[in-house]
Amino acid sequence: MSRFGEEQDPLFRRINSSISFDWRLASFDVEQSQAHARALARLGVLDDDELRQISGGLERVAAEFEGGSFEFNQDDEDIHMAIERRLTELIGALGGKLHTARSRNDQVATDLALLVRSHAARAIALLESLMETLVTQAEAHRDWPAPSYTHLQRAQPVYLGHHLLAYFWMFERDARRFFRAAEATTDMPAGSGALAGLNWDLDREALAADLGFERPYANSLDAVSNRDFALDYLSAASICAMHLSRLGAEIVLWSSQEFGFCELPDSFASGSSIMPQKKNPDAAELLRGKAPRVASSLMSLLGTMHALPLAYSKDLQEDKEPLFDAIDNLELCLAAATGMLAGISFNRERLAAAAADEMLAATDLADALVQEGVPFREAHGLVGGLVRTAVESGRSLSELTDSELDGVPENARGAVRRALEAGQTIESKVSAGGTASARITDQLEGARAALAALVGSPAQAS
Ligand code: ARG
Repeated sequence: MSRFGEEQDPLFRRINSSISFDWRLASFDVEQSQAHARALARLGVLDDDELRQISGGLERVAAEFEGGSFEFNQDDEDIHMAIERRLTELIGALGGKLHTARSRNDQVATDLALLVRSHAARAIALLESLMETLVTQAEAHRDWPAPSYTHLQRAQPVYLGHHLLAYFWMFERDARRFFRAAEATTDMPAGSGALAGLNWDLDREALAADLGFERPYANSLDAVSNRDFALDYLSAASICAMHLSRLGAEIVLWSSQEFGFCELPDSFASGSSIMPQKKNPDAAELLRGKAPRVASSLMSLLGTMHALPLAYSKDLQEDKEPLFDAIDNLELCLAAATGMLAGISFNRERLAAAAADEMLAATDLADALVQEGVPFREAHGLVGGLVRTAVESGRSLSELTDSELDGVPENARGAVRRALEAGQTIESKVSAGGTASARITDQLEGARAALAALVGSPAQAS
């Protein structure tokens, strides 16, 4: 018997079913059911033998999923029903006892929290590899002069190691964001029932400990309808994907013939079906291209949650596909970025030639004048005049004659000439966080320490 007098319309089934995507919750659902069965035994709902049978049945279900032999059924609306259906086939009507003292509403919220926790830890592990690769490359190129840009116009020279470390710190912040996303999963929805709580005094503290949560949610309505932890993951993922897009875009530029600053390993490039000379930076382009898609998952889930009345509504089933898509693409991008960077080679001469552009020392000339007592604004104007004279006559700054340095106070001319000597500009950037060699030594030390702190942190255990 059931409440319904008619079969479900095939169209209703199609719009209502989530099995085509929520099968990905299978391992978490089984894990949760195992713990739930133990909780039911503690409650006296299952006796020892029943617990053993249910537990054994669930193990077989898990093995079927792992071995790829689990067979879905036409009538499986979602993963929770599919698993209970299969359990009942395996152990008989006893399988039906497992749904005592729970609802799919608290069940799915718990599965999703377990999934987010596990993928936050995965993102952190992938970020660690990427950061390790960046530090290694930064160490190897710590004293290679390279140009840096504002407005994509040459600005000032830096060491390539400094440039690479800038990405390291972006990813270090990302890792900390994923820790916070993992922290957002510390409360356990299970034991909230459909929305109001249970008719059973289930020991939620014990169940939480069993499943690795810190505590049960304080409010059952909040527990079944909260997806903040998924939003936290997606927010961290969106920002991380954006960082990857900047790295990717820069590699696309730098590997072009126009720049010629780097070359990708053959294993991370493709050819053209028509132009035999081509070596395309596809993976770098896809780091750029996939980022908006991850951000759109965040927008999508925010849209799903927007104005949703308490507590569970089927809208919430729409939380999964964007989340899964973001997880898959982010994890792939992180791994691909690491592989690509591990094999990248930089062109020392091209970088050095661009960095040696004397115009990049213009700020230093102005600062040299300041050292001799000229106010900075005035110095800026004087050097601007020198740059203009040089550019208009097609010469470099050091080719200007003494008489062309006329506007520069006598006592400052020596300082101006010295500031143009090779290497001066980079090594004069001595402020904390600057590109001078000594500061890069500090920075590399800091980066290594930050990496060690990440690897040693507790979220890695889960
Ligand atoms: N497939 C559902 C989801 O993903 C599970 C929860 C169903 N709950 C319900 N009351 N129909 O959200």
